[in-house]
Amino acid sequence: MAIDLQWLQRVLERRKREAGETGVRLHPPAMVKEVLEFLRVKEVGKGVFVDMTVGTGGHTLAILQANPKVEVIGIDKDAESLEVAAERLADYADRVTLIYGDMRDTRRLLQQVGIDRVDGCLIDPGPSLWQMDSKRGFSFLDDTPLDMRMDRSAQITAQTLLQTLSSEELERLFVQAGERRSDARRIAQAIVRERNRSGGIPTAKALAELVAEVKGVRGGRIHPATKVFLALRIAVNEEIDALKGGIIEGVHVLKRGGRFVVLTYQSLEDKVVKETFASFAQPLKEGENRPLIRILTKDPIRPSYQERQQNPRARSCKLRAAERVR
Ligand SMILES: C[S@@+](CC[C@H](N)C(=O)[O-])C[C@H]1O[C@@H](n2cnc3c(N)ncnc32)[C@H](O)[C@@H]1O
Repeated sequence: MAIDLQWLQRVLERRKREAGETGVRLHPPAMVKEVLEFLRVKEVGKGVFVDMTVGTGGHTLAILQANPKVEVIGIDKDAESLEVAAERLADYADRVTLIYGDMRDTRRLLQQVGIDRVDGCLIDPGPSLWQMDSKRGFSFLDDTPLDMRMDRSAQITAQTLLQTLSSEELERLFVQAGERRSDARRIAQAIVRERNRSGGIPTAKALAELVAEVKGVRGGRIHPATKVFLALRIAVNEEIDALKGGIIEGVHVLKRGGRFVVLTYQSLEDKVVKETFASFAQPLKEGENRPLIRILTKDPIRPSYQERQQNPRARSCKLRAAERVR
């Protein structure tokens, strides 16, 4: 598959150099072959797909290249990512429509461009590599304020949460993201102590260092602040609620026979996909005997060994797919 990553990489790097910065990376799309197969992109003939988290356009580009007759509607709540996607997809402008918005509003957003039903839906949530590099505090190394908003027009940043939540609320957030309760408590207390002492934690890097210090861990394959960062990111972007809402919207815009593919990168997300698909795979109301969807992946599909070697970020990826049956 000829995804011209290198070309865009060069364009973006040139732009950044011109702006006096360096080191931007494009997001490599995960499990492209499997996504295209489950969505039946090549078999669909003339169809419409909605990429509900288009990001910098990697999967959308693959869909457009796989079938010259299909059209893609790409939604994202990050206006800056959409600009990159627009540039990357410029050669396909007649078959792609990019929309700024939240996947929880998919039905309304599609109606705005005159579409009621689609042949396939894709959700690939979480921050893109491009966002990780955008100095919004997603990365442990960012010497910039803890922002973590995918949608820069949203009100709440990670900094807001650190400044305003009580120690108990912070602890609960960290535990929900999988942090051990005793560590979560000590980290939450240290954050509150720090904000009382110095007014707050100024940067992502400072938070990562504080967590490492509290846990007494240095080095290792997984950064000690991974779950704390995950907790803040999920809360700021309402990621769990958005994923569930996005799946519900997607199921309702699919045609009969249309396919839904969702990729996830951590267990909280995968649980939501599994449960939400399951809820549509049984009769919705009493008296109804036919469910809305059929689940195509009893267990999630994982990336190939080769992909895991080439793209370390895809290692934790899980793919679940379903088909609308009525
Ligand atoms: C992993 S990236 C997608 C990468 C894309 N599939 C590609 O191949 O380039 C996830 C994207 O989802 C977007 N996103 C996250 N939550 C969203 C939501 N609730 N509604 C719309 N977009 C969302 C993020 O802004 C981000 O750009």
